[in-house]
Amino acid sequence: MSAPIPSPTTHKIAVRCQGVTKTFGTGAAAFQALRGVDLEVRTGELLMLVGPSGCGKTTLISVIAGVLRRDGGTCDVFDHDYQTMTEQETTRFRGKHIGFVFQAFNLIPTLTAAENVSTPLVIKGMNRKPAVVEAREMLRKVGFDQRMEESSPVDLSGGQQQRVAIARALVHQPDLIVCDEPTSALDSETGHKVMELMRGLALASNRALIVVTHDARIYEFADRIARMEDGRITGIETPQKPASPASEHSTSLKP
Ligand SMILES: Nc1ncnc2c1ncn2[C@@H]1O[C@H](COP(=O)(O)OP(=O)(O)OP(=O)(O)O)[C@@H](O)[C@H]1O
Ligand SMILES: [Mg+2]
Repeated sequence: MSAPIPSPTTHKIAVRCQGVTKTFGTGAAAFQALRGVDLEVRTGELLMLVGPSGCGKTTLISVIAGVLRRDGGTCDVFDHDYQTMTEQETTRFRGKHIGFVFQAFNLIPTLTAAENVSTPLVIKGMNRKPAVVEAREMLRKVGFDQRMEESSPVDLSGGQQQRVAIARALVHQPDLIVCDEPTSALDSETGHKVMELMRGLALASNRALIVVTHDARIYEFADRIARMEDGRITGIETPQKPASPASEHSTSLKP
């Protein structure tokens, strides 16, 4: 069962976006993907971001994770603004504080699954050998066996690659975990197991988690669900679960 909705008095603000804008391309080809996004995420919270294809979900979480620069508005992540940081500072901040599951997984084909998962630990300064040992432990938690750990991502199924990407995002215990469609390639049972793992790991130590999803089967794992349309957040909803206090704009979610 999920944790109660974080209260402003006990949970810190992990992410605060105000009026965030982002345009791709220029001139006649310009497309405004984010049109003034306001969003707040607190520690201890799992926020799901839902909305139709092309509404700007990946763009928004890429801005929040510091992999894409915004054009306007403000976006603070644990009181840090990427736009006041150098590229090196941003990379260091991301490596330490953020875990990102990319929609396309972005695994390195020349490394084994275990080596892929170990990379955030190595970037953080851990020696390769203990990093791979920790990576294996994390892969076991997402249902991998020894043979799969030694496989190249190209020899794994889509669902297995997705689990490697999830393990890689969680292994260094980041403060903010951002996942783009983390259960899209998983069957219902594995998807539930992965979400349970994410909730446990992510929220046990007062972290925050943002999950982009089209998968109504995992809505129950959310504390709040932010609906996005045409580059804006159009509503915040609370999934129906017992003993959850109502939040702003509270309604039940229709898949
Ligand atoms: N690098 C880019 N260059 C040009 N346009 C882009 C780029 N990235 C995204 N867009 C456009 O911005 C809009 C939002 O894209 P985004 O990937 O954020 O949508 P999404 O909500 O994640 O969609 P999906 O659910 O299909 O993943 C889309 O119209 C897309 O075509
Ligand atoms: Mg997307």
